Amino acid sequence: MNVMVIGSGGREFAIGRALSKDAMVQKLYFAPGNGATDRLGENVAISDYEALALFAKERGVDLTIVGPEGPLVDGVVDIFKAHGLTIFGPSKAAARLEGSKVYMKNFLAKYGIPTARYIETDHIETAYKFIATLALPVVVKADGLCAGKGVIIAQSHDEAKKAVGEMLSGAAFGDAGRKVVVEEFLDGYELSMFAICDGEEFILLPAAQDHKRLLDGDQGPNTGGMGAYAPTPLVDDVIYEKVKTRVIRPTLEGMRAEGCPFEGVLFIGLMIVGGEPLTLEFNVRFGDPECEILMPLMQTPARELFYKAATKQLDALHVSFSNQYAVGVVMASRDYPYHNSMPAEIIVDEIIHEEIAEHAHICFAGVGSQDGVLMATGGRVLVCVGLGESIREARDRAYMLCGQVHFAGKKLRSDIAYQAL
Ligand code: AMP
Ligand code: GLY
Repeated sequence: MNVMVIGSGGREFAIGRALSKDAMVQKLYFAPGNGATDRLGENVAISDYEALALFAKERGVDLTIVGPEGPLVDGVVDIFKAHGLTIFGPSKAAARLEGSKVYMKNFLAKYGIPTARYIETDHIETAYKFIATLALPVVVKADGLCAGKGVIIAQSHDEAKKAVGEMLSGAAFGDAGRKVVVEEFLDGYELSMFAICDGEEFILLPAAQDHKRLLDGDQGPNTGGMGAYAPTPLVDDVIYEKVKTRVIRPTLEGMRAEGCPFEGVLFIGLMIVGGEPLTLEFNVRFGDPECEILMPLMQTPARELFYKAATKQLDALHVSFSNQYAVGVVMASRDYPYHNSMPAEIIVDEIIHEEIAEHAHICFAGVGSQDGVLMATGGRVLVCVGLGESIREARDRAYMLCGQVHFAGKKLRSDIAYQAL
């Protein structure tokens, strides 16, 4: 089978890494990939989706997997399907679950899926009135995609009003903020769950916990994620069952009723409050770095899982997971998440320690290559993933590997998985 992965981050590297170990995968393409994915397959520098679909047809690509939300929201799946290609990911219509917070919240309300109490509006006075009824802090969200910056947790009513004003005027996020969601703050612990969906059936992966803040102890600004681990002991069978019956089933049924069945990865951002899972957000793709730690826990080949999901055969698939734990530690560049950093050479020591060689690996993300030298090109540069029989063992191995990787300005958290330890 020939497979193409769309995207260029650590998430796509992790998917490609799993595919590259699969004897059933003949050709592996990345579009556009990064400076390290060309070690796993071939990078394709085509950004136009029509042209990419033609390339996929010409090269006999049997399955395309889409990593990031951008191409999904832009309708890459619809374009590939119109060409008769098999592609794993939601349609443009289904991707609205991530592309519009207003759509998502209204969807949750319509289908009775538990979430924070909210209003959505494009009217400033309506927002102000609702803000006045809420206890502090107050959560304000821009409707559209804002690269992870569209959520404000306001510590005063004035701050919430100011955030709403800046969003609605277009000053904060342009058109992405012309509508807002204002909601109550939920106090609990946060989890990510991922369901691989084929429109009707789904496979739920082990629950993961991300670390969104830049600094140890969950301090500092929000980032795309500085590390993650799975499975988290914060989830028991009761919570898994509640998520399946109260969130995923009604979502799949609702999306069918709306005329846009959900195929792809449903990423459910949950807040567990008093044992009850409340849906904070949906994304329509894998999390990054969550994907990097979930891939190595899957014993069923990724190719088979994604292909069966893309061809509506999940009902006939039994998926098994390893009983190990995985911890991923992100190494970011010096000025992340504020500015781009100067490119810096990445040096990985020769890994002679058997424990790291066999139980840890690197997923490359923000990297380029220059005359065969791997360069950190900014943002989140790479993820060191450790596997083990316990979270502690997996974490120790991930950090041992981090100690072997060097580039100027490297930045990482030292407390990944602390909530579980
Ligand atoms: P979102 O993009 O909607 O996931 O929001 C980004 C982050 O803001 C989440 O990961 C949570 O940590 C936080 N957040 C969003 N909504 C709420 C809420 N209603 N209560 C508490 N925290 C929230
Ligand atoms: N790690 C969170 C995300 O990918 O959105």
